[in-house]
Amino acid sequence: MIGGEISMRAVGTTGVAILTVVGIAFAIQQSSLRATEPNAGSASTAAVDTEGHLRVPPDYWANYQSLGSWAIAADDGRGSKELHVVYASPGTIDAYRRDKRFPDGAVLIKEVFRTATGDMTTGTVSRAGALKGWFVMVKDSANRHAGNPLWGDGWGWSWFDATDPAKTTSTDYKVDCQSCHVPAQASDWVYVDGYPALKR
Ligand code: HEC
Repeated sequence: MIGGEISMRAVGTTGVAILTVVGIAFAIQQSSLRATEPNAGSASTAAVDTEGHLRVPPDYWANYQSLGSWAIAADDGRGSKELHVVYASPGTIDAYRRDKRFPDGAVLIKEVFRTATGDMTTGTVSRAGALKGWFVMVKDSANRHAGNPLWGDGWGWSWFDATDPAKTTSTDYKVDCQSCHVPAQASDWVYVDGYPALKR
């Protein structure tokens, strides 16, 4: 009888342990599901509020995926004068590879760095120096902010100085952004050729 009691207790403990493991697995699955939604991000981490104000999401270094980078040649030909590093919100790359278009809510962030150039063991190398600021684009397939001059042609568009990631200083995407993105119009205004992860 005593042995029976012990094994019953053991079964009870094992049962609780199994339930706990199942519970944890479920929680992990739920959070990874959320993370793959392109619009992922709570109100405190989102790139856009309900009124269409954009900002640089404070969590992007931890949670966004690397898309690619660009090096702008220095005027004297030695190294690069700027580095542009581009990130996409969680789930954007998977969705783009699947559907061949950017999903509603996708956020693209381009960091613009000044550089420091010098000789290293790999050659003449430019590295990121001071951050000038960020370009942010937010995909809007539903034309939610018609009449807002920072929104149009399927995107919200903004520039942020490094000093204030929460407040854009650009005022009109047609003036501040769009003419420069015309060469990429056929790929939804985005220079997709620079991003290996978007290619199959
Ligand atoms: C002087 C031309 C120019 C202007 C002005 C400009 N862009 Fe761009 N943008 C580019 C080019 C070219 C690239 C890709 C190569 C690079 O970064 O040098 C790019 C890349 C980007 C990217 C990375 C995704 C992509 O399209 O490849 C974002 C995001 C972006 N721009 C947003 C903006 C926003 C928002 C504005 C306006 C506030 C803006 N840009 C204004 C030329 C410009």
